[in-house]
Amino acid sequence: MAQNFFISSIGKKILMAITGIILFGFVVGHLLGNLQMFQAPERINYYAHFLQNLGPLLWGIRFFLLLVVLVHLIVAILLTKENFAARPDKYVVRQSAKSSFADNYMGVFGALLGIYLVFHILHFTIRAFIYPEFSGLLTPTGQRDVYQMVLLSFQIPWVSTFYIFMMAILGFHLWHGIPSFFQTLGIRHKYITPVVTYGGKLVSIIIALGYMSIPIAVLLGIIK
Ligand code: HEM
Repeated sequence: MAQNFFISSIGKKILMAITGIILFGFVVGHLLGNLQMFQAPERINYYAHFLQNLGPLLWGIRFFLLLVVLVHLIVAILLTKENFAARPDKYVVRQSAKSSFADNYMGVFGALLGIYLVFHILHFTIRAFIYPEFSGLLTPTGQRDVYQMVLLSFQIPWVSTFYIFMMAILGFHLWHGIPSFFQTLGIRHKYITPVVTYGGKLVSIIIALGYMSIPIAVLLGIIK
């Protein structure tokens, strides 16, 4: 029964919505944590230290997030295939008048975000290949200096530019993703629909700008 539900189109859309909201929660929480770069270095270092001290729980959260990302990705591919197969004009490049740039390139943005995540985890979590020399720095009290790692990384223009570009992609992905979430839940109402659609778009801009503000502030010397 449950198996049939998740094989159906609506079941897949609901899976996209559930995994999407979990990832959205992570993106908001991670942004709030990272904005501590604007405060004293001790703040973000303390936060990173706290996360590291979660030990097995941290690994549990990481494993869960990885699973959520994989489900989101696989179901997105299955839905795209289904939509394509259901189109009468399969071989014609089609662009509906109503769909925006963000809607048409949702899959491309998702794929780019996947590549970004691999890069980002190699950069800051596994700390290999991308300036690993910035990751071994310690604070005077002997803790990992995450503040310096992020600061020194973003002082390198190509690294900052890459992050700023990818945060724009994240914004576009959410621009379409947030209103889609409410559509899947069947929220269609004269007054509520415009609020969640425009509100969702505003939130996607705030999130993208929030993340971008960190590399931009480093490049401008505001964070130093
Ligand atoms: C300016 C932007 C960002 C900064 C400065 C940043 C910073 C960091 C840092 C320092 C870590 C390592 C934490 C640690 O191990 O101590 C990390 C991990 C991570 N970040 Fe980001 N991040 C940014 C954007 C993003 C975005 C947009 C996403 C998702 C779309 C993301 C997803 C992740 C994930 C999945 C991890 C692995 C979590 C873990 O280590 O368990 N990050 N980030």
